[in-house]
Amino acid sequence: TVFSVVVMVAMLLLAACSDSGDGKVIVATDAAYAPFEFLKDGKMTGFDIELLEAVMKEAGVEYEVKNTGWEPLFTSLNNKEVQAGISAITINDKRLKTYDFSDPYFESVNMILTKEDSEITSAKDLEGKNVGVQNGTTGQEALEKLFGKNNSNIKKYKSNVLAIQSLMNGEVEAVVADNGVVQEYVKNNPDKKVKSVEDKTNFESEFYGIIFPKKSEHVDDVNKGLKKVIESGKYAEIYKKWFGE
Ligand code: ARG
Repeated sequence: TVFSVVVMVAMLLLAACSDSGDGKVIVATDAAYAPFEFLKDGKMTGFDIELLEAVMKEAGVEYEVKNTGWEPLFTSLNNKEVQAGISAITINDKRLKTYDFSDPYFESVNMILTKEDSEITSAKDLEGKNVGVQNGTTGQEALEKLFGKNNSNIKKYKSNVLAIQSLMNGEVEAVVADNGVVQEYVKNNPDKKVKSVEDKTNFESEFYGIIFPKKSEHVDDVNKGLKKVIESGKYAEIYKKWFGE
């Protein structure tokens, strides 16, 4: 009947919309992680955001970035509200159980941010001290590995910006986050009197990837795009802009 045809068309339209909006791939991010993704004059920018633009252009994929925040990035992938994520996300075994990743595009390692006058010189020195970390990050994992899962000294924050705020107001004595972010903060905030402390023994090298739901149709295209961006020298150009030589 006409009615059932109308119902079917409506259902098809609904299915199409819930899948990817107007056909664009929605890429989630937590734009509070400079220099990778952050807001500048209300606009999203950063290394990841510019790399994504270059990759999607090469891949011929129409996309839109959505600032979901960190933990909602993963839940939005789970419930199909977004089709990908870029957010300095470390590729690890735990995440690979639930998600697919692009090829790695950036090497990183956790690092300590602390006050200039702090006596902390390694991760071991964090023992018994309040340490801030963004909830659900590899920094949290690294701290739990060192000091135990339910250690009450590990203070978890919704965003890395909030973790750093708690260092400034004395709630914690250190923050653990990715080296790029810690070093950027030290460099750009001389007035805050903070320093970075590395510990290559206790913190392992990590690699960032663009994240997708399992079996995403976009992984191949994105990997091809990423490859072209690296080969063309565009990757080096973006890298240089954000990290220097
Ligand atoms: N690389 C770390 C991880 O994957 C931290 C990433 C946090 N990213 C962010 N945009 N807040 O767990």
